[in-house]
Amino acid sequence: MSSPNADTPLASLSSGPLQGEPPLGRELTAKLLAISHEYCQAEGGCHGPDHTERVHNLALHIGRLMNARLDILSAAALLHDIGRSHEMLSRGKICHATKGAEMSRTILKGLEFSQEMQDAIIHCIEAHRYRNKKIPETLEAKILFDADKLDSIGAIGIGRAFLFAGQVGARLHNRGVDVKKTRSYSTEDTAYREFLVKLCKIKDKMLTPEGKRLAAERHEFMEVFFKRLDKEIHGSPRNTPDNSQ
Ligand SMILES: [Fe+2]
Ligand SMILES: [Fe+2]
Repeated sequence: MSSPNADTPLASLSSGPLQGEPPLGRELTAKLLAISHEYCQAEGGCHGPDHTERVHNLALHIGRLMNARLDILSAAALLHDIGRSHEMLSRGKICHATKGAEMSRTILKGLEFSQEMQDAIIHCIEAHRYRNKKIPETLEAKILFDADKLDSIGAIGIGRAFLFAGQVGARLHNRGVDVKKTRSYSTEDTAYREFLVKLCKIKDKMLTPEGKRLAAERHEFMEVFFKRLDKEIHGSPRNTPDNSQ
């Protein structure tokens, strides 16, 4: 594990609409960010460092609105996907949230986080996964859940779904797919399948008011996009003035 250095992109954490000092302080945040990048770098554009930083910014945005513990949120957001490579290499057999929580325990102990902080952060990481059985129980876990899911929908979600499809060698589109007859990590695991199986349901899973608000508008955009994709590939279902644009 390389140590954090001056090249750590700490500035990106306070870019965009979220300004100010990192809740854990610059030094500790830089250490966590370096660890996070080290583990997530290989995941590319889909679950790589950019995703982690977007989730971090969104989590802090929602956290501020809800008076949540920003220190817990910050650490949990930075570490939430560090187990991802284990899930990818096992083609989905290992749950990255469970694995990431286990790895994070060691990291947090090493950085001398208090037992109370460790437990709170670990719970957020364990419970952030959409398909996991662990339910987010604390305010911070609910916020991380929403921030992570928000980054999988809207324009970002579409981009990430295509990146993931590319990683597993999937097709561009598979209209009329019967999702029950297709498998994850197969050539039929397209962005459209991901939309049908998961992304279209996310807006109804949000746990915070701001999460719900942002999810509704991102969902609307995805519907427009996939209709348009289908139309460009297959043409309009009916040639009427209403759907000819
Ligand atoms: Fe995740
Ligand atoms: Fe994530």
